[in-house]
Amino acid sequence: MTADLFDSAAEAQPSREEIADGAVLLRGFVRPIESELIEAARAVVTQSPFRRMTTPGGHLMSVAMTNCGERGWITDHTGYRYDPIDPRTGAPWPAMPPVFRDLARRAAEQGGFAGFSPDACLVNRYEPGTRLSLHQDKDELDYLAPIVSVSLGLAATFLFGGLARTDKPRRFRLVHGDVVVWGGPSRLAYHGVAPLAEGEHALLGRRRINLTFRKVL
Ligand code: SIN
Ligand code: FE2
Repeated sequence: MTADLFDSAAEAQPSREEIADGAVLLRGFVRPIESELIEAARAVVTQSPFRRMTTPGGHLMSVAMTNCGERGWITDHTGYRYDPIDPRTGAPWPAMPPVFRDLARRAAEQGGFAGFSPDACLVNRYEPGTRLSLHQDKDELDYLAPIVSVSLGLAATFLFGGLARTDKPRRFRLVHGDVVVWGGPSRLAYHGVAPLAEGEHALLGRRRINLTFRKVL
C-alpha cells in the first residue's frame, strides 16, 4: 500500500531539470500517453507524408518533415516560411490532434509558460546518420510563446547553445518520452541535433520522431 502511494507520487511528479534560463528538460513527460501520440502522429503522416525539403541555399535536408496545425513550416529555394497549405498535397495541413495540443500546453506550463496555445506542430523524422545543424527558431511572429519539443523513438544528442551561433552548445541526451521547453530569455537559443546513432526502438524501429510545437501568429 505504502509502496503504491510512493509509486504514483513519483509518476505524478516527473523530473524537471533547468538546462538554461527559461529552458527545462522534462524527462519521460509523455511516456504515459506514448501510444496515443504515436497513433495520432501516424494519422497526420497518412494525410501529409514526410518529405525532405530543400533549404534556400539548395541543400536537401537530411531530416524528413511534415506538419499539423493551422500553419506548417516549410523551406524551399525561395526561403523559410509558415504556410496554411501543404505544398505537397495542395490541401491544408492536418488539424492538430487534441492529444498533441493538450500535451504541449501541459509541458509549457511545467516550463513556466502557462496558457501556451500552439498553432503549428512540425513533425521531424530522423534516421541513423540524420542531423539538424544549429539554428534558431525565428520564423514565428510571436517570441513570447515558448517552443515545446517532444522526443519519441531512438535517442538523440540535443545541442543547446546560447543566443550567439558561436556559443558552445551543451549536449543533452534525449530519449523516448522526453520534452524540452524553451522560451523567455532562451527563446532564440541556438539548438540542433547531432547525427543520430544506429539503433532500434521497440515502438518506432530505426527512427526518431520529434514534435516541435510553436505559436506562429
Ligand atoms: C527542431 O529544432 O526543429 C528539432 C529539434 C529536435 O529534433 O530535437
Ligand atoms: Fe528548431
